[in-house]
Amino acid sequence: MNTIVKMMRIAIIMGTRPEIIKMSPVIRACEELELDYFILHTGQHYTYEMDKIFFEELDLLGARYNLDVGSSSHGKQTGKMLIGIEKVLQEELPSLALVAGDTNTVLAGALAAAKLHIKLGHVEAGLRSYDRSMPEEINRIVADHVSDYLFAPTENAKRILLGEGMPEGKIYVTGNTIVDAVWQNLEIANRKKDVLSKLELKKEGYILVTTHRQENVDRKERLRSILRGLERVHKEFDLPILFPIHPRTKKRIEEFGLKASKIRLIEPLGFLEFLQLEANTALVLTDSGGIQEEACILQVPCVTLRDNTERPETVEVGSNMLAGTKPEKILWCAKEMIGKRNWENPFGDGKSGEWIMKIIREV
Ligand code: UD1
Ligand code: UDP
Repeated sequence: MNTIVKMMRIAIIMGTRPEIIKMSPVIRACEELELDYFILHTGQHYTYEMDKIFFEELDLLGARYNLDVGSSSHGKQTGKMLIGIEKVLQEELPSLALVAGDTNTVLAGALAAAKLHIKLGHVEAGLRSYDRSMPEEINRIVADHVSDYLFAPTENAKRILLGEGMPEGKIYVTGNTIVDAVWQNLEIANRKKDVLSKLELKKEGYILVTTHRQENVDRKERLRSILRGLERVHKEFDLPILFPIHPRTKKRIEEFGLKASKIRLIEPLGFLEFLQLEANTALVLTDSGGIQEEACILQVPCVTLRDNTERPETVEVGSNMLAGTKPEKILWCAKEMIGKRNWENPFGDGKSGEWIMKIIREV
């Protein structure tokens, strides 16, 4: 290894459940290459089952810095992060900062690095829902436009970036690190966990649900409509509906006084148990970005509880259908998708973490 590479210091900025999971293959690659890196955690997610459990299960070195920003309005949360990240970057002077995805942590990390003229890499660049009512859409557009390295998961994402005037020389199609994370951890999950026995479920004898998008769960009518849709799916297939519930959604169900009587609500799970549940379910119903991808990778049919997706590749290969939030459409899509399993994985070969680090070291 040449000395210049050895001297390179990388700041890995993250703050939420999906970022920890999607960055884990990049961190593994840094470890294998013995690179000088550190983790800067914003503290956007902080409860054990949304944060620490992933560090433990994925065997990650703890964060060198945790800004403990916690939950608040978008402006306040992002502002606190920006102040904290800038301070750390000024002290550590990394040669490169990496962010992954589209959260407020990504927005703050990208802005802080770009303003300090620290090179910035955006993992999962070029995704677009074309729906500006999603906070994530704004975050990803900003992060892409201030990045020096755009790690696009697919050719489609690359086309989007080119269409927005990004120079081709900045764009690298690397696949999505979620493929690495799935294949690195499914085998470990199967060795260490038996979540089906624990929850008294049978293979393909249940339906797995998650929902947490702000535009779905913060609106009473939309959330009620999703819950009604789930009840109709339960009635139709006579299968348990298992719903590891995101804290935002739990809070809203309580606040709105909604009933979820036919649905089995459980606390959010660690990645190993959740992966096992995904791999063995009859169907996934979700509004999560990462879970649309994982279902596709695992050959499990997915119905997305949204009107659009920034993962159109899943719809194109036939692993996913967009249902929106109306009960009858959710049921119709569930009937269409259940039993389907045979498509190409469009998200790469599971070596994205390695690819990303190779590009960073060589370009
Ligand atoms: C955030 C991201 C979203 C991502 C999701 C992953 C933004 C704008 N949103 O949404 O893109 O898909 O993370 O899960 O960045 N809470 C806890 N414990 C925690 C974290 C949150 O109880 O550890 C509760 C709090 O009541 C909080 C609410 O969840 O107000 C929402 O948390 P927040 O981080 O603002 O947004 P998410 O919905 O988690
Ligand atoms: N996940 C998990 N436990 C759960 C629910 C989800 O480990 O109870 C994982 C899931 O496998 C995926 C990621 O969390 O890798 C998705 O996170 P989330 O849906 O919160 O965010 P999004 O992907 O929509 O940004």
